[in-house]
Amino acid sequence: MSFILVTGGCGYIGSHTLLEFLKNTNHHFLVIDNLSTGFIQNLEYLQNRFKNRITFFNYSLNNKEKLEQIFHTYNIECVLHFAASLSVEESTKIPLEYYKNNTINTTFLIELCTKYNIKNFIFSSTAAVYGQPEGEFESIDENFSLNPINPYGTSKMMSEFILKDSSKIYNFNYVILRYFNVAGANMDNDFLHSRALGQRSKNAIHLIKIALECAVGKREKMGIYGINYNTKDGTCIRDYIHINDLASAHLSAYQYLLQNKQSNIFNVGYSKGYSVKEVIDKVKEVTKQDFLVEILGNRAGDPAKLIADNRKILQYTNWQPKYNHLEKIIQSAYDFECYLRDVENE
Ligand code: UFG
Repeated sequence: MSFILVTGGCGYIGSHTLLEFLKNTNHHFLVIDNLSTGFIQNLEYLQNRFKNRITFFNYSLNNKEKLEQIFHTYNIECVLHFAASLSVEESTKIPLEYYKNNTINTTFLIELCTKYNIKNFIFSSTAAVYGQPEGEFESIDENFSLNPINPYGTSKMMSEFILKDSSKIYNFNYVILRYFNVAGANMDNDFLHSRALGQRSKNAIHLIKIALECAVGKREKMGIYGINYNTKDGTCIRDYIHINDLASAHLSAYQYLLQNKQSNIFNVGYSKGYSVKEVIDKVKEVTKQDFLVEILGNRAGDPAKLIADNRKILQYTNWQPKYNHLEKIIQSAYDFECYLRDVENE
């Protein structure tokens, strides 16, 4: 039997991607997660829904010995590598932690893949590797130069380089997925059974999540980080993608690797940008809730505009996004946020 190894499988993107693979393949999955930002509830949801198909290891990726035991024991066909630190702002304050957790741990993992002859590797990268491109452009394609403006983006860019250089020498293939801004919750949630999959956070940092915490009354107010950017309304523009579509991009990447046996890099977004103000207005409209929004200073490390050119992934893989509507993203995230509030109040 062959296995797919998923690092960070208890996290938001990891768990939704696992769900996509569990639904669409017959594989067994090995999940490594130290639960630093992941949630055991995500794994429990999946284990309840898909019996006996996930083996969980509560390890950190810097635990080389334990990691090697896994590679030694199981026949691994593909690695999906999600585990990472993920806050742009935090990375500007504790850069070394980001290089250790994101770049050095990825290097360990790649080293084991080369030692145990793993042929397929899918890497969670980010739009943050592009930094803030200069000049006039509507969207960013994969050929834009990499010029990260925060340690988070640099830590991921360095991992991309390590992957590229080692894949040539050790003869394996990778797909690098450069995520734009993911949001929303699983669309086939089983609320009846009091379990659901969506974005859980110990300390929310993401725009849509924070706005929805205001809408459900978990927070009194929120702030807009800067209104002096060179954009249509002065607030930052991002390309928001529904979590189920981001998850299915991984399945398409996996199928791409099996069919083409070659490496590639794809942006994953919808090629559509919304400003911070537009997102907050849409949250108020969808949820029919009003809340206080303050104007704050710019947040460290924020580029003004990041919109994906997604033509490459659409051309080279079978990826077909299904939830390309800001309303759907917000509605699904709101349903999940209401569920979380109700569970916490029980
Ligand atoms: N923002 C606010 N107020 C908030 C939260 C966010 O104004 O309370 C703004 C931010 O300043 C930024 C935008 O909303 O302009 C989006 O911020 P997020 O924190 O939601 O997302 P980021 O764009 O900073 O980063 C996210 C992921 C990264 C990924 C990046 C890719 O966290 O991992 O998207 O674009 F690299």
